[in-house]
Amino acid sequence: MEQYVIKGGIPLVGEVEIGGAKNAALAILSAAIMTDETVIIDNLPDVRDINVMLDAIAGIGAMVERVNKSTVKINGSTISDLSVDYEYIKKIRASYYLLGALLGKYKHAEVPLPGGCNIGSRPIDQHLKGFRALGASVNIIHGAIVARAENLRGNHIFLDVVSVGATINIMMTASLAPGRTIIENAAREPHVVDVANFLNSMGANIKGAGTDVIRIKGVERLHRTEYSIIPDQIEAGTFLFAAAATRGDVTVKNVIPKHLEATTAKLEEIGCDVEEYDDAVRVRAGRKLHRTHVKTLPYPGYPTDMQPQIAVTLTLAEGTSIVTESIFENRFKYADELSRMGASIKVEGNSAIIDGVKKLTGARVCAPDLRAGAALVIAGLSAEGFTIIDDIMYIQRGYENFEEKLRSLGAEIEKVSSEKEIQKFKLRVG
Ligand code: EPZ
Repeated sequence: MEQYVIKGGIPLVGEVEIGGAKNAALAILSAAIMTDETVIIDNLPDVRDINVMLDAIAGIGAMVERVNKSTVKINGSTISDLSVDYEYIKKIRASYYLLGALLGKYKHAEVPLPGGCNIGSRPIDQHLKGFRALGASVNIIHGAIVARAENLRGNHIFLDVVSVGATINIMMTASLAPGRTIIENAAREPHVVDVANFLNSMGANIKGAGTDVIRIKGVERLHRTEYSIIPDQIEAGTFLFAAAATRGDVTVKNVIPKHLEATTAKLEEIGCDVEEYDDAVRVRAGRKLHRTHVKTLPYPGYPTDMQPQIAVTLTLAEGTSIVTESIFENRFKYADELSRMGASIKVEGNSAIIDGVKKLTGARVCAPDLRAGAALVIAGLSAEGFTIIDDIMYIQRGYENFEEKLRSLGAEIEKVSSEKEIQKFKLRVG
C-alpha cells in the first residue's frame, strides 16, 4: 500500500496552479450523457474519482474518449444499459448522479443504493423525493434504486435538507421533464452553479442556480457543448491552510476568489495576511496564529470539506478553538491521529475543542477519509521530524499530483511503498 513520508518544519513558499473542481466534474460528466451528441469537457482533474466515473459512463455503453489527461469527449448515443454496475457505486457514491441523468433522458434508471462512507450515513431520501415529485416510481429492489416514469412532469419541490447531491440530481432530471420545476431550499454551492451552467450550455432552461430557489423549464432535448470545469475551491483552500500551518507564503492560481470567501475570512481571523487578485489568492502566515470558532454550513457558510484543514491549523494557534461540524455526523476521525502528533483536541458530540500547542511532532498516522487525509498531510508538513501517512489512496481520490504540487512549494514529501524507500528518503533529506 502506498504511503506519504514527510519531513516537516519547512514553511511552504511559492505559487501553485489549482485544478478543476472534482465535485463539479463528477456531476457534469454524468449530465454529459443526457444528449446523443458529442460533449467535450475540459479542466477535468486527473484523480481517481473522475477516472472511476468515466469507467461507469463507459460501462453503460456511452462513448468516452480521453483527449488528454484533463479533457474528455463523451457521446451518450450508444448507451445500451440503464443499470449502473455495483462496482462503480461502491467506489464512488457520486455514481448516483447517473440516476438523475438516465431518468431524465430515458425515463428509466437503475443504480445500486450507495452505502454510507467514512464521514457519515449519507442518506439519499431527498434525491428520491425529487424523482417521485417529477413523476417517477422509485423502488429499492435487491439493493438497487429502480426509477421509472411513464411521463415526467415538472413540479414544485421543497427540499427538507439543503443537499448538494439532491439539488443537482433533481435539476438534471427536471431539465428534460415537460413543464416547470421549482426546487426550493436548494444548495447554493459553486459546483451546483457549474452544473446548471453546463446544462444550459446544452440547451437546458435553468434559472436561479446559486440561490435557494432554482426554476427549470423542461426542454425536448439537449445538444452538444464544449465546457470547462470551474477551479476546485477545496483544493485551493487546502493549500492555503498548508501555508498557514507551516508559517509560509503561498499563492494559489487559477481560482475564483469569491468561492473562497468563507475560507479566506477565517484565515484572516486567525492572523494571516490574505491578498486577493482576479484569479489568485495569496496567504502569508502571521508570526502567531490566533484561536477562532468555526461551524460548517452549506455554502456560502464555512465548507465542511475544509473542516479538517482548519482544525489541524488551529492545533497550532494560541488559545482554545472550537470547530463544530453541522453537516456530517462522523467527520472528526482524524482527531485521534492528531493527538498522536501531540495535538490537544477533544471531540464532544459534533464539536472538537482544540487547545493550541507550540508544535506537533511527526508520527505514523492513517488517513481516515479524503479531506482528513489531506489535513494530516498539513499536520505532517508543520510537525517537527518525520511523518508517515498510510492509506493515501483516499487522498488520491480528490487531489491531483498532490505531492508534486507540495514539493514545488518547498515541501519534503514523497510517495513510497516500502520501509526501504522510507529509509532512503530519511537519509536523503537528513
Ligand atoms: C457533496 O456531497 C460533496 N460530494 C461532499 O464532498 C460535500 O461534503 C457535500 O456535498 C457538502 O458540501 C460531492 O459533491 C461528490 P449533501 P453530498 O447531499 O451531495 C444530508 C468531498 O470531500 N442529506 O449536500 O452527498 C446529508 O446526510 C465530499 O469532496 C440527507 O439527509 O452532500 C448531509 O448531512 C465529502 N438526505 C447533508 O444532507 C439526502 O437525500 C448534506 O449532504 C441528501 C443529503
